[in-house]
Amino acid sequence: MGEPRVTGLRSAEFAVPDLAAAQRFYEDCWGLETVADTAGAVFLRGTGAEHHILVLRPGAERRLLRVNLAADDKGTVDALHDRAAGLGASVDPPAEIDEPGGGYGFIFRDLDGREYMVSAGLAEPEAQPPTIDRPVKLSHVVQNSPQRQAQSAQFIDLLGFKLSDRTGYMDFVRCSSDHHAIAITTIDAPTLNHCAFEVPNHDALMRASGRMKRAGHPVEWGVGRHGPGNNIFAYFIDPTGYVIEYTAEVEQVDDSYRTGMPEDWERPPEFHGDSWGFAAPASERFREATRG
Ligand SMILES: [Fe+2]
Repeated sequence: MGEPRVTGLRSAEFAVPDLAAAQRFYEDCWGLETVADTAGAVFLRGTGAEHHILVLRPGAERRLLRVNLAADDKGTVDALHDRAAGLGASVDPPAEIDEPGGGYGFIFRDLDGREYMVSAGLAEPEAQPPTIDRPVKLSHVVQNSPQRQAQSAQFIDLLGFKLSDRTGYMDFVRCSSDHHAIAITTIDAPTLNHCAFEVPNHDALMRASGRMKRAGHPVEWGVGRHGPGNNIFAYFIDPTGYVIEYTAEVEQVDDSYRTGMPEDWERPPEFHGDSWGFAAPASERFREATRG
């Protein structure tokens, strides 16, 4: 066995002031399906084999409560815990997870105090056939941090992530063949920037975006194609104020990938962060909401 490492992104957990309204939005507009609605929390799945990809919990205000990461087995969970603890990270002991999907995991807190859980052994429902307009899985989470490079170093040193690219304001780290699972952007407050959900392809992204638009949720930035990761994007704001993204065609990479640095990613400002040069500038609402 090689070095223990995280192998995937499972789910994000949002605090929402109106649980019923948030559940309705994520089912009817965003395209997820409720798998468990127990003990005051709602667990929603995509069409992939992950038990759930989003958890909604009651809370007075918008706050990312946790990001859940995957490890291959219980032994790897224990090994990752021991390594993180040994390197001085803030961690809780591994334990059985008494929630829908079950499993075994430990919590660690990043340098800004945000919670992540590394888990294994969750129930794995059969993947559904991909649809033309629904998310398959959680694709990436972007965190704001005043200490970007120290944060990405922690993911690399403690959890076995790799640095895929570093731009002038963002570090992209990966734990699978997806170009990035986590990105950290330089913004003073340690808040959530956005969460991205993968849809099967460009056509699905357009259809899902059309559904959102017709339901009164306009595209706040996009449709466009990112530089690092080369993924297509369309960004929205949910009823609580979370920034959420449909994404597709994220670049698949392996150890031969050459890590890009800021000088590799300089682009003309009139492209507005879109490799196609098609997208209009992001909305002011989007800029405000991504600051958390
Ligand atoms: Fe994104």
